[in-house]
Amino acid sequence: MSVANKIKGALEKASWIRRMFEEGAELKARLGVEAVYDFTLGNPDLEPPGRFKEELIKAAGDPSPGLHAYMPNAGLLATRQVLASQLSRVYQQDFGPQDLVLTCGAGGALNVILKALLDPGDEVLIFAPYFPEYLFYVDNHGGVARVVETDEVFQIDLERLQEALSLRTRAVIINSPNNPTGQLYDARRLAEMAQVLREQSRRQGRPVYLVTDEPYRHLVYDGMEVPNLFALYPDTLLATSFSKELSIPGERLGLAAVSPQAAFRQELTAGLVLANRILGFVNAPALMQRVVAKLPGVTVDITPYQRRRALLAQILSRAGYDFLLPQGAFYFFPKAPGGDDLAFVARLKAENILSVPGRGFGRAGYFRLAFCVPEAVIERAAVGLARAVSHKP
Ligand SMILES: Cc1ncc(COP(=O)(O)O)c(C=O)c1O
Repeated sequence: MSVANKIKGALEKASWIRRMFEEGAELKARLGVEAVYDFTLGNPDLEPPGRFKEELIKAAGDPSPGLHAYMPNAGLLATRQVLASQLSRVYQQDFGPQDLVLTCGAGGALNVILKALLDPGDEVLIFAPYFPEYLFYVDNHGGVARVVETDEVFQIDLERLQEALSLRTRAVIINSPNNPTGQLYDARRLAEMAQVLREQSRRQGRPVYLVTDEPYRHLVYDGMEVPNLFALYPDTLLATSFSKELSIPGERLGLAAVSPQAAFRQELTAGLVLANRILGFVNAPALMQRVVAKLPGVTVDITPYQRRRALLAQILSRAGYDFLLPQGAFYFFPKAPGGDDLAFVARLKAENILSVPGRGFGRAGYFRLAFCVPEAVIERAAVGLARAVSHKP
């Protein structure tokens, strides 16, 4: 056997998103790209803002020595200073550069945080539907993921949360705007959750950490506001990235930040910095750190996402799908007509429409459509989407 049993198991379970993507690639090779409507991957297709490219060219042309060298594992001080000021404005907290660690994307930030927090057997609560990589990330660091179902509109169910807590609970991950549901968690429910976690921390005699994964914070519609967890709970850690807000997921730049109100503020950041090193990331990409330091507040224009969301919502409701309008991110998560998500995703595939079954996100009976695709693709998929829902087996 070539690989470890654990990885073999992971390969077998490996994410539905990839599996659908691969099946899609086969379909595209057979029918041609134009004939396939691929809604599987959350890969932002908008170009980064013009300012990003200008600053990238300037940074690449800088003749100063040492710009490509190793650096402190936390990242460049100048970049952390700029980002700390920005976080302070967004979250109304007093972040300093010492509270931030630049990472290889939000995925890197989550791994750094979990590495710093978990002892073997520590439990991490994850709300379903969830970003499937969480299960791998928790396991990477010896943790045990405990899945907590949300209610029928994907909001936190406090009773289920209470039931899932144990003396081994070390952290709770919140992802809002959410992948795959496109929903924001309700502010009042989050405040109630924070109260529950405070009580649990007292019971345990150590903090239960709230890890807020927010790569979609900038992608919200209709003037919605993403609740500020730093204001609700002191022991909060942020994982985020520039992947979606600057449309640069391939550049792998993100950050982890510790709440200035956290009880063990300094020890936590020291742990994150060491984790960044010993996980082999060492530091986040240097060139990108220099570029984003010049772009505080610059983000991709979300108007195209807004238009696609409106278009797809119209097509889905005309066809009779049951869904919640996404409040953020770029995903619809409708109910699978007939109730069987695998059967329905196969039905869509027969129409050359690629989607991901809800069970890949811990909620069978639904399916995910990522709308980071051109409007023309959405328009051309309309007929197939309508035919699939009216199909009688
Ligand atoms: C909820 C969520 N968290 C984290 C990530 C990872 O983002 P990054 O590319 O910044 O590592 C993604 C990527 O799709 C995501 O959807």
